[in-house]
This record gives sequence, structure tokens and C-alpha cells, in this order.
Amino acid sequence: MSRGEFKIVSVIGARPQFVKAAVLGRALRCHPGLKEVLVHTGQHYDREMDQVFFEELQIPAPAYNLGVGSGSHAVQTAEMLRRLEEVLEREKPQRVLTYGDTNSTLAGALTAAKLHIPVDHVEAGLRSFNRAMPEEINRIVGDHLASLLFCPTETAVENLKREGITAGVHQVGDVMYDAALLFGEMSRSADELLEQVHVVPGNYLLMTLHRAENTEHKDQLARFFSGLGKLDMPVLFPVHPRTAKVMEQFGISVPGNVRCIPPASYLQMLSLEKHARAILTDSGGVQKEAYFLRVPCLTLRRETEWVETVQTGWNRLVGLDPVALQQGLKEHWNGAARSSCDCFGDGRSAERIAQIESEVLAQ
Ligand code: UD1
Repeated sequence: MSRGEFKIVSVIGARPQFVKAAVLGRALRCHPGLKEVLVHTGQHYDREMDQVFFEELQIPAPAYNLGVGSGSHAVQTAEMLRRLEEVLEREKPQRVLTYGDTNSTLAGALTAAKLHIPVDHVEAGLRSFNRAMPEEINRIVGDHLASLLFCPTETAVENLKREGITAGVHQVGDVMYDAALLFGEMSRSADELLEQVHVVPGNYLLMTLHRAENTEHKDQLARFFSGLGKLDMPVLFPVHPRTAKVMEQFGISVPGNVRCIPPASYLQMLSLEKHARAILTDSGGVQKEAYFLRVPCLTLRRETEWVETVQTGWNRLVGLDPVALQQGLKEHWNGAARSSCDCFGDGRSAERIAQIESEVLAQ
């Protein structure tokens, strides 16, 4: 590290974090006084969940890959804490950056805080108010340990205020919106892929499903898939490894109109989203991307952190309930009232975060 240079360690590990870190890394590199050291926990490790993102989004190779892999929440998080502590002690960064709500976020926040290194949280203040979700626990702990809290929306700022957190809070906009704008221009044509699975652009539903609460119960999952078979449209389904594993374990039968494909890359996904008639998802990021692209979304959950997508009429919460899904689709087709908001910022969130980091470090 040269004189006058500040070191920031970014802790990432799962698919959505690669996207966020890709845009923020670019912005940090515009500040010659900042040096980012990327630490990958290894939470996601399959090529299509990991390397593909680094290649496509031109993320520099991580300085460290902790190779933690899968495990129960305790085992996975404990391994991250142990290995991350060594790295932070060696690197001695001035600050640590964490992203979103995964076990890697939790581990990054805890390790840094215990070593008295200020930790900053990108995508702070999000709440589902459902503590049965592992991600909600990660968000709450991550926010309460953070020094700088970069909120994507006004709702997030309000959520933090209710928990007594007001210092260090910055409403910067959503880095996922930055990413969708930046990489949307590069999005790869999905025509070939759609042809392979006999799906026509504009005439399919795109589905993602991986949350623990949706993949843990055999009967619920079987009922849902059987309900998908009653839809009169193909459902294109890039399958998350967690879901692939449980579907096999539970012996879930996949109806003929559901076309399973391996996990899509980010650029592929943007294109698949753009051409979908509607999107069915339990992912936070995909709900927002549906909104950014103004594609109707049915969220396969009972609550969402991204309330703005529902308030504007582009998103409906239907749970993992085939009847509610059918009903939701019908309402979407019948031209439900929809509006637009600029609640996710202007596509320059990463720039703002980098500027704030730079100013705080120079103090
Ligand atoms: C994690 C995050 C979630 C995020 C999601 C994005 C937590 C608690 N959850 O969920 O917030 O939305 O990533 O994808 O951190 N697996 C593989 N190969 C991989 C990755 C995972 O086979 O490359 C399998 C493993 O069996 C693993 C399971 O998927 O046990 C779950 O993986 P895990 O990293 O615990 O959480 P995700 O479900 O991916």
C-alpha cells in the first residue's frame, strides 16, 4: 500500500453480492486514494453461481478465497469467522464493507466489529419483519454493528430509525439499480437459450425459487409444482443448486410446461427477465429487476423488503400458493393500475458510496 492510501476489505460470498461488489468496485477504483481488497468467503462455489459472475462482470480475482462452502448456518458462519479473522489481522484494513443479507454479510460484520475495524453495510435497513428468515437475522445484526449504513430506499432509512439507528445513515439509492443500468446494456441475447427450451420471447413466465422457507417442506413444494402445471404458459426455471437438491430428495415431479435450466448468469438473467411475460420469484434482487424492467412480478412469499415494488402495482405477494398465483396472474393480465417511482435512486449509488468512504477515510 502506498502512502496516503486507505485499504478497504470487501467481504463477499454469494451470487447477489458479486453483482453489488462489481459496481461498487468500479466506483472505488475511481478514487486513487482507496485500495479495495476483495475477500470471497466461498459460500457459493459452483461455477455458474460464482466464477461466471467474476468473468462476465469483470470483477478482479479476489485476493483471498476462504473456501468455506456449504454447511449448517452455524458451521458455515463459524468457518467464515475463523478464516476471516486471520485475513483481517494480516491485512489490517481501515474499513470493511459488507453487502446485503447473507451469512457472509453476518460473518464480515461480526469479525470486523470484534477486531474494532469499522464495518459499513451496503443495502442497509431492509426488513421483512419475519425473523424466521435467516437473512432477516443477518440484516439486523449487520446493521446494528455497522458504522456507515448505505440505504437503498427511504423505507430502509425509516426502518433503521425505528430501531434507533440514525448515525452514519446515508440514503444513496440502490446499487442493484446501478448494476441493472450498467450491465443491462451488455445483457446477452437469450434467444438461443429460449429456442433450446422451446420458449418464445414474450410468451413465458420466468421463475426463481430458492429461499429456505420455500424449499424445506415437501408437501408445500409438491403442491406448488403441481399447480404450475395448470398454467397455460411455459415456465422457464433456472434452478438454484439448493432447490435442485431438495427437488431430487423429495422426488418432486416437474410438469411438462416447466422448463428447468441451470442457474443463469447475470447478463443472461437480465435478458430472460426482459423478455418474460411475468416473473415469479422469491428472490429480493429479482423482484427489483422486474420493477426496473417494468415486467409484472408475482412474489412467492408472504412479505417483501421491497415494498415500493408492491406499492407501484408491479409486484404482488402470492406466497407459495398456486391458487393465489393464478389469481395474481389474472389481475396482472387484466391491466392492474401501475405507477412508477424513483425510489431506487438514479443509478449513481455506487459513486455516492465510494465518495462517502473516501471522505470519511480522509478525515
Ligand atoms: C444464499 C443467501 C441468500 C441469497 C442467496 C442467493 C444466506 C443465509 N442465504 O442462499 O440470502 O439470496 O444465497 O443465491 O446466506 N449450493 C451449491 N452450490 C453453490 C451454492 C450453494 O450446491 O454454489 C447449495 C448447497 O447445498 C447449500 C445450499 O445450496 O447448502 C444453500 O446454500 P447457502 O449458501 O447456504 O444459501 P443460499 O440458499 O444460496
